[in-house]
Amino acid sequence: MSKKKIFSGVQPSGNLHIGNYLGAISQWVDMQDEFESIFCVVDYHAITVEQDPEELKKKIIEIAKIYLASGIDREKSVIFQQSSIQEHTEFAWVLNCTTARMSDLNKMTQFKDKSGDNQENVSVGLFDYPVLMAADIILYDTEVVPVGDDQLQHVELARDLARRFNSRFGDVLVIPEARIRKEGARIMGLDDPTKKMSKSASSEANFIALTDDPAVAKKKIMKATTDSGAEVKYDPEEKPGVSNLLVIESLLTKTSIEDLEKKYEGKMYGDFKKGVAEAVEKFLINFQEKYNAITDEEVRKILDDGAKKIKPIAERVMGDVKKKIGVR
Ligand code: TRP
Repeated sequence: MSKKKIFSGVQPSGNLHIGNYLGAISQWVDMQDEFESIFCVVDYHAITVEQDPEELKKKIIEIAKIYLASGIDREKSVIFQQSSIQEHTEFAWVLNCTTARMSDLNKMTQFKDKSGDNQENVSVGLFDYPVLMAADIILYDTEVVPVGDDQLQHVELARDLARRFNSRFGDVLVIPEARIRKEGARIMGLDDPTKKMSKSASSEANFIALTDDPAVAKKKIMKATTDSGAEVKYDPEEKPGVSNLLVIESLLTKTSIEDLEKKYEGKMYGDFKKGVAEAVEKFLINFQEKYNAITDEEVRKILDDGAKKIKPIAERVMGDVKKKIGVR
């Protein structure tokens, strides 16, 4: 039996943090043996909000390096840049016209969150973002989409659009499904453990960036908000701060939560935080060593080779789509 296909991507904007790593990228690393895997740097998603061109260029390389340093293996998986394959935007246009409705996009919570009170002035691209994401996914016959839980609604839209297309034009598109990692899908902010860790948080104390100095990261953990009480116990309702730190250490060290609760039995929060901080420091030192060992030139080549490898799939699917809708 052939392997199932997965596709996922990260935007080259802002600072990637351990929440992105634990909620998404580390899951991809674990999946790449079992699945035929494609990982994309979604630069055309990033430009839905204003980007500085020089910064964007750097970020694209940075994200690809983060993939590689996280353990995505170029021999097993394809890594590429979205804008290298023009079929993404071409297909998004076709989906825009044939299957996506205003009412679908009006429901998207991420758009509402990102546009806030400014709905009239954000770009049309920001509104249409989920359709480009659907195109990314469907263009490669993707079966499984591993993402953080904030992207579930978008993957469900991709499913709906593929189904609608098939029922109107005949079965040509593969229907994708989301795969969410339960624990770690939501790493919470260090300064406010009731909200998700966010790269756009107003305070740097909220997140640990993958590029943070390990010593600084350690301090951020020591300062993290914990809860009243003294017991180190996993209870996201009553002890969101402690639970978040437990999840972080658990995922970084591949130790179960129960084992960690045992490790910290009878210990104070201070000792507990020190343990988590050391795990984070160790992870970052190791991660950054790998990150720094990769040159920009190597990354450029990996991205270009990746695009060459999968371009034929995109051409085939887009060719079928064009025939179905009658332009060819
Ligand atoms: N919207 C995703 C995010 O912000 C990134 C993304 C773009 C993506 N296209 C995708 C994820 C296709 C999975 C599949 O996290």
